Amino acid sequence: MPILTIESTCDETAAAVIDGDCSVLGECIATQETLHERFSGVVPEVAARAHLERILPVIDTAIRQSGINPADLDAIAVADRPGLAGSLLVGVIAAKTLAIAWNKPLVAINHLHAHLYACHLSGVRDRTQSSAYPSVGLVVSGGHTSLYHCRSPLDLEYLGGTIDDAAGEAFDKVATMLSLGFPGGPAVAKLAAKGNRDAYPFPRSMIHQPHFNFSFSGLKTAVRYAITGPGQQDFASLKLADQVKADVCASFEAAVVDVLVGKSCRAIRETGVRKLIVGGGVAANRYLRERLNDAAKKDGFELTIAPAELCTDNAVMGAIAWEKIRRGDFASLDLDITPGLQR
Ligand code: KG4
Ligand code: ZN
Repeated sequence: MPILTIESTCDETAAAVIDGDCSVLGECIATQETLHERFSGVVPEVAARAHLERILPVIDTAIRQSGINPADLDAIAVADRPGLAGSLLVGVIAAKTLAIAWNKPLVAINHLHAHLYACHLSGVRDRTQSSAYPSVGLVVSGGHTSLYHCRSPLDLEYLGGTIDDAAGEAFDKVATMLSLGFPGGPAVAKLAAKGNRDAYPFPRSMIHQPHFNFSFSGLKTAVRYAITGPGQQDFASLKLADQVKADVCASFEAAVVDVLVGKSCRAIRETGVRKLIVGGGVAANRYLRERLNDAAKKDGFELTIAPAELCTDNAVMGAIAWEKIRRGDFASLDLDITPGLQR
């Protein structure tokens, strides 16, 4: 029997109905991008209110699309960590309420582990997931940039992560500086394709340091100085030629990707595993995907990147709940949210 999965960690309200073989019977995502665009970033209070309005219609749509009766669900799974507190609360309370009303067991999902699980959910579903382990996992999103040593989908050892901004956050901030809208990743990537990656010598922070941490805030500041000069913050009045914008985007994207690829390859070498799995919104980035593919060929490791449509937040990656169900790992009805950074 299928399960219902619920995702509301940040600014997407999503639900899916997923069978034990990971096939998707129903799915619905309500994005909040237009709500947050004028603030150039996700406003937690606005996000929580929007989740509240959307969560039941989204769940209803996913269930109707699946054609199943809620009585036939096996369990209800919800991302309880990490994320924005108000956003997480809406999903968790909805899941607990439905678990009580429909008398179903509850499963708690770690959103970061789910991002990596999306690697197994391509069109041709990988039903031999065990072959993907052990692996190095790179989660690269708007809120996180982390490397793990993954022994199984649920057994992950944190190797390192960003000490300041996440990579996606840096994409979003650079997009704001160049007045490209929100979220900025896709817009920066589009312009970058027309630019010169060597135009600006932006920093590759910590790339040669013998650990797995990242830092992107210095890069963000370097971009700001390159386009405005120190002290100036009024990005809206900047008049930059299209080619200058494209060159800034291309040079910025190259700096981010150099570090992500460099650190991932270091993790592969130092852990001795031969597989890399990659998920999270920034994993949709075409240049990153190309460079990771090149590195995998050169260094001789296996690479699986989540399908582009499952990189940004969605409820389908909540299929990881099946791994917990098989282990008998259920949450109790007093499940609480855990917003803080999860290692
Ligand atoms: O995984 P996600 O949907 O949310 C979090 O869990 O944070 O990631 C969203 C992030 C945003 O910062 C967005 O700008 C970035 O992923 N993103 C991209 C691309 N598509 C989305 N960054 C670079 N290139 C892209 N094509
Ligand atoms: Zn995410």
